[in-house]
Amino acid sequence: MTMNESKKLNIFSGIQPSGELTIGGYIGAIKNWVTLQHEYQCLFMLADLHTLTVLQDPEMLRKRCYDFLALYIACGIDPAKNILFAQSHVPEHTQLSWILNCYAHMGELNRMTQFKDKSKQHAANINVGLFGYPVLMAADVLLYQTHYVPVGEDQKQHLELIRDLALRFNHRYGDVFTIPEPYIPKQGARIMSLQDPTQKMSKSDANLHNFITLLDEPDTIRHKLKRATTDSGHEIRFNLTEKPGISNLLVLFSAVTDKTILALETSYQHANGYGQFKQDVSEAIIAFLSPIQSRYQALRKDETELQRILHQGALAAREKASATLKKVYTLVGLMEST
Ligand code: TRP
Repeated sequence: MTMNESKKLNIFSGIQPSGELTIGGYIGAIKNWVTLQHEYQCLFMLADLHTLTVLQDPEMLRKRCYDFLALYIACGIDPAKNILFAQSHVPEHTQLSWILNCYAHMGELNRMTQFKDKSKQHAANINVGLFGYPVLMAADVLLYQTHYVPVGEDQKQHLELIRDLALRFNHRYGDVFTIPEPYIPKQGARIMSLQDPTQKMSKSDANLHNFITLLDEPDTIRHKLKRATTDSGHEIRFNLTEKPGISNLLVLFSAVTDKTILALETSYQHANGYGQFKQDVSEAIIAFLSPIQSRYQALRKDETELQRILHQGALAAREKASATLKKVYTLVGLMEST
């Protein structure tokens, strides 16, 4: 590592290998990460242990981890610039998680809205892992002296908890953890569901017509776009309250072509209805996804190479994680293991 690289601030993010990666997720998150990798030391972790808090099919889970890794790399996350690894390959995560469990309070975990939501969704399997989920997240982030965590709306409360835990620990033992902050992208577009543009496009939506995945075939994309909700009237104009459907398509169109919304509005000012516009949006999405999809196919074929990337990532991650864990063990009073 060069001097310059060691001075970079750290960014950490975890990815649950579940559901499908959507174009909304790409534009809202992955696209930003691709630019961050030049300015920050980024760690991207497959949160496979977190995924186990909901019952998984073992073979599917393993396959999905490789799928996700290949797709992130295909999107431009460079394994030579970033540390890409699997949570289960770095035992320090579960080790620190145990220690932090002893400092986290039942009451504060009970207040987590995600825990409440997931308990309703999985009423037959409200397991201890689901309850302790944010504590494992805290271990993920705090092991790497993380400065910034790019978080979506749904993870903000967890990040607050992580900060509380870190402050509590530091208050008792001295400055062992960097206090992480949420990373708010300079410019980020929020892509909404195709059929209900008041909701975010989500990879776990039960209605498959609500989202476009990064691996959707051209015809699937055309079909989904045709069915996308548009608004009354016939103008192609950005207006979130009056025309949420068309506005969403404009944001999407703009993100995949790098044209401004204004320029797009202008080029459709004489349009007669939405038909041609929707067709153009689908063709633009197809053209945008095509190189990502071919890179993905090539990478996904070579599982040995994906394993090599994860192995390298785990080595780099362990070097950092073990230093933090060692300090923590000593501070709380555990004996040195010789
Ligand atoms: N819980 C996160 C999610 O579902 C994934 C995750 C695990 C994570 N550990 C993390 C995100 C640490 C940020 C930091 O999206």
